[in-house]
Amino acid sequence: MYARRDVLRAGATLGLLAATPWLHAATPAALLTRKVPSTGEALPVIGAGTSGSFEVPAGSAAYQQLKAVLKAFFEGGGRVIDTSPNYGGADSILGQLLEEGGWHQQCFIATKIAADSPADARAQWADSLRRLRTDKVDLLQIHNLRDWQTQLPYARELKQQGKTRYVGITHYLNSGHDQVARIVRDEPLDFIQINYSVNAPDAARELLPLCQDKGVAVLINRAFDDGRLFARVKDQALPGWAAEMGIGSWAQLFLKFAISHPAVTTVIPATGRPDRQLDQLKAGQGPMLTQAQQQALIKQFA
Ligand SMILES: NC(=O)c1ccc[n+]([C@@H]2O[C@H](COP(=O)([O-])OP(=O)(O)OC[C@H]3O[C@@H](n4cnc5c(N)ncnc54)[C@H](OP(=O)(O)O)[C@@H]3O)[C@@H](O)[C@H]2O)c1
Repeated sequence: MYARRDVLRAGATLGLLAATPWLHAATPAALLTRKVPSTGEALPVIGAGTSGSFEVPAGSAAYQQLKAVLKAFFEGGGRVIDTSPNYGGADSILGQLLEEGGWHQQCFIATKIAADSPADARAQWADSLRRLRTDKVDLLQIHNLRDWQTQLPYARELKQQGKTRYVGITHYLNSGHDQVARIVRDEPLDFIQINYSVNAPDAARELLPLCQDKGVAVLINRAFDDGRLFARVKDQALPGWAAEMGIGSWAQLFLKFAISHPAVTTVIPATGRPDRQLDQLKAGQGPMLTQAQQQALIKQFA
């Protein structure tokens, strides 16, 4: 959980390669990293989310598939995984998978507090540690700003106790940006997590530059608009310039858009499919999009 690396090398095991031949072509060479401003710790730009995709029964076929997703993720240099006690048991599944795969040390675990009172938060936190099968996490976020005036001080208390290394706040709608910005201005924070995508680029107007100014790391959620963007590009060719940039899929392009903003530390797309996981990791290499390319995408998806 605490290992640092500037460049994370990829390398699938021979066993996995033999079982899943498509890994040969898909495994990335390296992931770019960005520094967390409050510590200088380098994190890979491609992370993972667990909402929906990790809400599966333990031991099911979907669970076994998630094991292959995480194997591809960690072997491809991924570290940051975001979850929440609110994701229908996804945090339990993540904890079990991390334990079975022996990945706890590699994983930067980001979870949340989503509670309405100090007593609820304390009980939820104890439960979170049990479900994630750990005694500490890397990032503890106040979920959708819920009861944040009470919960942020509690998260800071846990940071002081060494139970989390970083604290932050999250939102997932444009309507939450102003309040998130007010808190970024007024409160010391290590991270925020916010929505940012080709069809919802508003965060770039004020919030992301503010985070850069204030030295706050940024996780990006909903880079695929919760999967809806794929329906919009069905049967559509990538822009002509994508191939020259080493971008081979719409998923890679959507993720490249998110990380092309310099305030962004890590984008956390969700998937329950190993082939998609490998594809996503490929976005963590090569050049960033130019301003003109970003504007062309915003225009296309407006
Ligand atoms: N308030 C908050 O704190 C908040 C809110 C929203 C999200 N989040 C975090 O951010 C993470 C990401 O957000 P999100 O899960 O809402 O949305 P997202 O990453 O924009 O989209 C995820 C969806 O895209 C689908 N998908 C992925 N690759 C695909 C491909 N190549 N083709 C077609 N479909 C594809 C996935 O389905 P498959 O699994 O079938 O691939 C999944 O349903 C969440 O998991 C969560 O950890 C936090």
